[in-house]
Formats: sequence, structure tokens, C-alpha cells
Amino acid sequence: MLDSGATQILILGGTGDLSRRKLLPALLDLYARGMLPEVFHIIGLARSKWGRHEYSTFVKESIDKYHLGHTHTAQQVNDFCSHISFVSGSFDDFSSYDRLQSSLDEFDVKRGVRSNRLFYLAVPPKHYSQIFNDLKKSGVADESEKKWTHILVEKPFGNNLQTAQELDSQLAKLYREDQIFRIDHYLAKEAVQNILSFRFANTLLKAPWDKDSVQSVYIKMTETIDVGGRSGFYEGVGALRDVGQNHLLQLLALVAMKEPDTFTVEAIRDARTEVLESLRPVTKETLNDSVIRAQYDGYKSDEAIPNDSETETYFELKTFVDSPTWKDVPFFIQAGKALEVGEVSITINFKDVATGLFETKTCFSIGNQIKLTISPEQEIAITLNAKSPDLGYQLETRTLSYKCKEGENKIKNSYEKVLYDSIVGDQTLFTKTEEVHAAWKFITPILETWNKLPLHTYKKGSAGPVETLLKM
Ligand code: BG6
Repeated sequence: MLDSGATQILILGGTGDLSRRKLLPALLDLYARGMLPEVFHIIGLARSKWGRHEYSTFVKESIDKYHLGHTHTAQQVNDFCSHISFVSGSFDDFSSYDRLQSSLDEFDVKRGVRSNRLFYLAVPPKHYSQIFNDLKKSGVADESEKKWTHILVEKPFGNNLQTAQELDSQLAKLYREDQIFRIDHYLAKEAVQNILSFRFANTLLKAPWDKDSVQSVYIKMTETIDVGGRSGFYEGVGALRDVGQNHLLQLLALVAMKEPDTFTVEAIRDARTEVLESLRPVTKETLNDSVIRAQYDGYKSDEAIPNDSETETYFELKTFVDSPTWKDVPFFIQAGKALEVGEVSITINFKDVATGLFETKTCFSIGNQIKLTISPEQEIAITLNAKSPDLGYQLETRTLSYKCKEGENKIKNSYEKVLYDSIVGDQTLFTKTEEVHAAWKFITPILETWNKLPLHTYKKGSAGPVETLLKM
């Protein structure tokens, strides 16, 4: 059991998609692993006129539906549900916070404790500002001696640089930075954390990781699913805000960051921030050659989407990290929904040998490649040149690949890590203010000018639009 003291976890948006698919299954898994505090209580807040019993039924149904293949017994699920309560109310109705406070107090009195409090904002980002205020004003987020309050916020944090800055200055007036956990669940993925291990624990990879050896970097996040039932959230947000400003720029930061001197929260977050602050801005002059945006056919057939929607479901972006290490190495980013193949990966293309035995016109070598696949399966593949087996002397490429094994302790749902770290108070895998601002500073000018670019279309289930920057 986790020794962090009695803790109450409040999920604002307790019946939403994120809660059903990710948070409730993750909390159950943590419980089954014995990784929740010994004394804990989960409270779901949502509009439904439910009591504890109905919410328990909802939690069980969500687990059956979305936590496929779990191996917990019915008894374990029941035990887990015995730690859950429900408060009926809306997060934009101030009186809900009084009811939340009563539920929190009731638990504390019953258990004879004063518990820590973790507030998870599983709600659309447009409500953050009001919730930050109301949590403070109502007193539910107050800390008492040696008892913490942590606030977890989903991405996108803000809608552009200005709104992110406004949210942050509001937060700074209400809470300390060590109370704010800005989530990017990609950072919490095992395979993403492995980028640091591959890069910095292997001399073989450390040596050639810079402009002298690397030709280009390609970061890809293609999904087969379309917008589905999330159109209300997605419309007006689009792919660049949804996954570009956060997940993909964070992957880029992990690929390009300097090795931190120490394995500390500050050193790792600073190293990521330095990369994001060095991204070369896309300007009006470079926009055409740096960005592609597209929407899949049929996106607008959803009732919730206006006929003239220009929301992109796909983008490509070419950028550079303006640091001496990465001078003029292009970084390509691609993301999209409703595509043929679902894959998240990072490919490092190395330069071909420029001198020596094989720098000849008769015996061609090809630049090496390292591909780190994050999903569907965690894999590292290295492509090398070798002699082609015949009487002559030609080269051909061979690929060595390794699929990272799934151990018993494998964390399938990165929200387990998000929740665990926020309970123990480790902010390494959460983004800090400067990181979020740097990412928005890079993305906002693109969002402000790219309506001048054509919005291409592509067929669902295809490889994306015909127009592409990715000629590699
Ligand atoms: C979320 C985006 O942050 O990440 C979704 O809002 C996207 O649009 C999802 O589908 C992908 O996450 P994962 O963990 O399934 O790769």
C-alpha cells in the first residue's frame, strides 16, 4: 500500500468518457496492485441524479465495457466499489461544492482523519477557469497541516498562448506550482519513458545523436479511429491542438533534449523546456513549406459539426530545433485520425557514410535508421547495411528489431502512472508552465495563419491526403 496518508480522489466529470475509459479502470488496477493509499475514497461528481448505488453500477458497467481483458475478480471489483461515492451536481453550479465538502467531511469524520485531496478535472478545458476559482472560493481545496491538495488538469491547457498564460496567472494566484499537475498522458507511457533509457543508457545511441550524424527525424501518430462520439470536444480544437501542441511536441522534446546532469524533476523538465523554447517559428514565409492540414471525408456529416467546419483531423509539420546540436536537421511531425494504419513512432534517419570504403558510386550504402515504436507494440528497430550474399560486392539493408517484452508489472493504461505520480507528488511526467507556454508559442502563430492554406481532404481508411511534406 502507498504510504501517502488518507487520500480522497474527486473526479469532476465522473461519468464522462475519460472517466469511463481510462480513470476508473486505472484506479481499479492501482487498487488491485495495492498501489492506492491504505485509506482512500473516490468521489465522482456529475449531473446525474444518482446516489452511491447507481454510481457503483455505472463504474462496474464501465469496467466491463472498457477494461477489456482485465483479470480482477468480481469480489475485487466489489471491494473497489465500496470505496466510491457519488455527488450529484454540476461543476458550474457553486452549490455542488458545498455538497462535495459535506461528502469529504463525512468521510474524514467516519475514518477519524483529515485526508489529502486530489481533484481530477475530467471536464472540457473551457470550464477550467471557473472550476479553479470555485474550488478555492468554496474552501474544498484548502490544505491543512501536512495534508496536501493536488489539482490534475487535462490537456489542452488553454487554447492558444494567451489563454494558457491567462490560466496560469489565475492558477498562480490561487495555488502553488507544486499543487498543479498538468497532464500529458504520453509522458506517462512506459514506451515514451523508454526513449530516455535508449538514448542515455546506451553508448551506441548516445554517440551519433546530433546534426553531424542525423539526417532527419520523423515523429508519427496515426490513428485508425475517427472523431466518433467526441465531435463536441473535437470541433474547433482539431488535431494540432489535440495532439500536436502536447503529445507530439513532447516526443520531439524527448528526442532532442540534452542529457540532464541529474535524474531530478527540475533537470528533466528543464531539458524538455529548452528544446521547446528552441523550436524555429513557422512564419508567413515558411508556412507553405512547413505545414499541411486536412480533414477526412465525412467529418462534417456528424450533426454536431457545422457544414463549413475547417477543423483539421490531420496535419503535417516540419520544424527545426535551433540549437548547435540540431542545427538544420528537419523534424517532421505527422498526426491524423481515420487513417489506414494506427501507429505512434519516432524514426531517426541517419546520414549515409560520406567517406571511406563505401563512399563509392558502385557499391551503395543507405543511411541507417532507428525506429522507436511506441504503439501498437513497443519496439526498437535498427536498420544497418550488410553485404548482399552473392558473388559480387553489393550492400543491402538488414533490420535488427526487438519487441520490448510485457512483464507482469506492465502498465497498460498510462493513467495509472498519472494517478500514482500525482498521489506521491512526483511532477516529472507532468508539464511545467514554461513548457506549456513554449509549446503554445510555437503552435499559436500556425493556428493564426494557416486558414490561408488549403484544407485538403482524404478518404477514411487511407494513408492521408495526397499532398505531403514527408518525402523521405
Ligand atoms: C488524446 C487525444 O489526448 O490522445 C485523442 O485527445 C487521441 O484524440 C488520444 O485519440 C490518443 O491516446 P492513446 O494513448 O490512445 O495513443
